[in-house]
Amino acid sequence: MPTYDEAESLPGTLERLRSCVPDADVLVVDDASPDGTGRLADERALRDPAVHVLHRTGKDGLGAAYRAGFAWGLDRGYDVLVEMDADGSHLPEELPHLLAAVASADLVIGSRWVPGGSVVNWPWHRRMISRGGTMYARLALGLPVHDTTAGFRAFRADTLRRIAFAGVASQGYCFQIDMTRRVHAAGLRIVEVPVTFVERALGRSKMSSAIVREALWRVTLWGLARRVPRRLRVGPLARAALPRPSDAGPGQHETPVQDRGLGAGSDGSG
Ligand code: GDD
Ligand code: MN
Repeated sequence: MPTYDEAESLPGTLERLRSCVPDADVLVVDDASPDGTGRLADERALRDPAVHVLHRTGKDGLGAAYRAGFAWGLDRGYDVLVEMDADGSHLPEELPHLLAAVASADLVIGSRWVPGGSVVNWPWHRRMISRGGTMYARLALGLPVHDTTAGFRAFRADTLRRIAFAGVASQGYCFQIDMTRRVHAAGLRIVEVPVTFVERALGRSKMSSAIVREALWRVTLWGLARRVPRRLRVGPLARAALPRPSDAGPGQHETPVQDRGLGAGSDGSG
């Protein structure tokens, strides 16, 4: 659970999460929030051994926080790792649906834009950005997913190991799209379950135009890289490319993704 200035929301979210899914441990990844969110998390961790806190030195974006959190969880041998916002938008009451689905999926996405999913209290422009962004990424990248930027997800630990997530460069919410395309490119199974996203009642969103711009240019580059023949991909296009499942040939499920050179300056498969 990444946090930046969520002092008002975090305690309530943790409380609900601990009572809805008491078997799950929680890791709060705080970027030295000026409002003392990290201290609140520490206080909770002192009296609840299921709650853990990772303190980072400063605001470094959602992507970096998740990379650090996943590394922490994989080191400790968890089987399933969940992403979830701290501001109450992702309902702890719905987490059991995601966990049930991950029994037969490699990645479960809590989706706002599938039948049964919804968004409560978002102004029209946020709806437009999310729906437009998700549709653009879906079409540009050929992803079979209706909510590509959703931040409520359950990954099998093996899924994270196989997509070499440490190489994900995206900083903002684009991180979610990047993770989705990697899971898809690895030929893994993605399932969307409908969720109700409730806009935060307390605190402020960290969404900014820089976050939208990052997603736009990266998705455009990734989309181009898919279309340009491999021998013509140079520089940023070569770095942007991911192998498609068809490129990997038979036995792709056994191929460690690291061997395909993700993020290593070439797609390594040709
Ligand atoms: N550690 C850390 N560092 N946490 C961060 C940072 C950061 O730089 N930026 C945001 N967060 C945390 C917030 O504190 C919150 O818990 C969560 O990430 C989501 O941030 P919000 O700012 O509340 O996001 P949102 O509600 O505008 O955006 C939602 O929609 C996006 C687009 O669909 C989220 O669900 C995103 O995950 C989603 O991509
Ligand atoms: Mn939010």
